[in-house]
Formats: sequence, structure tokens, C-alpha cells
Amino acid sequence: MTTIGFIGGTGPEGLGLAMRMAVAGHAIRVGSRRIERAEDAATTVRDAVTTAGGSPDVSGALNADVCAVADLVVIVVPFDGHEATCIDLRDAIGAKLVIDAAVPLTFNDGVPGVVDVPQGSATEQAQALLPDAPVVGAFHNLSAKKLQDLATPMRGDVLVTSDDADAKQTVLDLVAQMKDLRGVDAGPLAASKFVEDITALLLGVNRRYKAQAAVQLVGLD
Ligand SMILES: NC(=O)c1ccc[n+]([C@@H]2O[C@H](COP(=O)([O-])OP(=O)(O)OC[C@H]3O[C@@H](n4cnc5c(N)ncnc54)[C@H](OP(=O)(O)O)[C@@H]3O)[C@@H](O)[C@H]2O)c1
Repeated sequence: MTTIGFIGGTGPEGLGLAMRMAVAGHAIRVGSRRIERAEDAATTVRDAVTTAGGSPDVSGALNADVCAVADLVVIVVPFDGHEATCIDLRDAIGAKLVIDAAVPLTFNDGVPGVVDVPQGSATEQAQALLPDAPVVGAFHNLSAKKLQDLATPMRGDVLVTSDDADAKQTVLDLVAQMKDLRGVDAGPLAASKFVEDITALLLGVNRRYKAQAAVQLVGLD
């Protein structure tokens, strides 16, 4: 069992990932800037996983406290808070493995797009701001709504990027423990922009089809 901490875990994406990782048997620490929100979100995750038949180990705490106790941390804050969050939590994170799921989304007249990030992508921004931590990009393309629907299989590929081979393998192993998902080695951090861009594409498709589509590559078996 790994203790997984969520920075900004009170939002829909953090809640959904926390639920699926709790179902996979991991201890979950939900982080927030406010302790009450963290505790409420932890209750939401615990209740959902218990209803689904699990006996989860879930609690909530301030983001920095979550980083202190977690074996690895997942960043699930909106991009406009991403840079400041990485800077604020740099010492608390230290050399721990970081999974970044943030997408630098923008909407122009309702059309989803991705803002230019000086480092190339949100994941590369995190790596630049957290130089002691191995940063891995993952989970950008999974719908929060689907993640939270524990009664329905969460099918799809998780495209995983990192410049650290061991950290990338740890995340691929984590994905393999999450039922019905498949991890795909999508390359180095420099490939993260392509993965983040797919989220904007999916949002447009989902709006047109009134769906929560995911990515699934063929031909890898
Ligand atoms: N929603 C999806 O379907 C989805 C899918 C794939 C990827 N993503 C990505 O995952 C990330 C989280 O998505 P979400 O929909 O869960 O986001 P969200 O609800 O907008 O934000 C998640 C949490 O981040 C914290 N937060 C908000 N603004 C912040 C700021 N300026 N600085 C620090 N923390 C802040 C809040 O927690 P507290 O107030 O409790 O601290 C909030 O509950 C985003 O980058 C998004 O692009 C989302």
C-alpha cells in the first residue's frame, strides 16, 4: 500500500483519482488550502469507496501536511494556481515523486484550448519548479465525472511522461493497479504538451457528443 497525497484534492479530478486509487488499495490523503474542505472531501472519498465495497484509509489535511506524510503526491490544481502551488510546496515535497495531472486549459468563446507555457507544458513547469522531485505527467485525459462513477468501469489509456525512468515505471505500475485502465509510456517530459493538448480536444468532442470520452491507443498489444 502506498500513501498518496492530493494537492488540490477537493476538486472533481482529485476526488475521482483518489476514489479510484483507494479502490486499488492505497491510503489517500486529500489536501486543500483549508482543513475543513480537506476533511469534507476525505469524507466524500471514504463514503464513495465504502459504498463500492471497499474499506478505504482516507483522511484530509492541509496541502503541506499531506506532502509531509505521502509517499507520492498528485498535483490536481487549476493551471492558474499551478506555479504558485509548486513554489509554496517545494520544501514540503522535497524529493518525493510528483504526478502532475494539471492541464493549462483556456476557453475562447467556449472553445477549449491550451495556453502556451514557457517550459512547454504544465508538467515541465512543475519539473522546473520542483528540481529535487522526479515529476511524472499522467491522468490528464481522464474525465473526473467518469472517475467518480465507481459503478462503471473506467476504460482508457493513461499516457505517462517523465525524464526519470524509475518514477515513470512506478506510475505505470500504479495505473496497472487501477482496474480497467492501461498505462502507456508516452515518452520524456518533452512529450507532455501533446498529452495535455489532447484534453482540450477531448473536451470539444465530449461537448459535441454529450459524452466523457477517453483516449485508447490500438496496436500496442
Ligand atoms: N475536471 C476534469 O475532468 C479534469 C480532467 C483532467 C485533468 N484535469 C485537470 O486537473 C486539475 C484539477 O481539475 P479540477 O476540475 O478538479 O479543478 P478545480 O476543481 O478547479 O480545482 C481543484 C482544487 O484546486 C484548489 N485550487 C483552486 N484554485 C487554486 C489556486 N489558485 N491555488 C491553489 N489551489 C487551488 C481547490 O482546492 P482548495 O480550495 O480546497 O484548496 C480546488 O478544489 C486541473 O488542472 C484540470 O485541468 C481536470
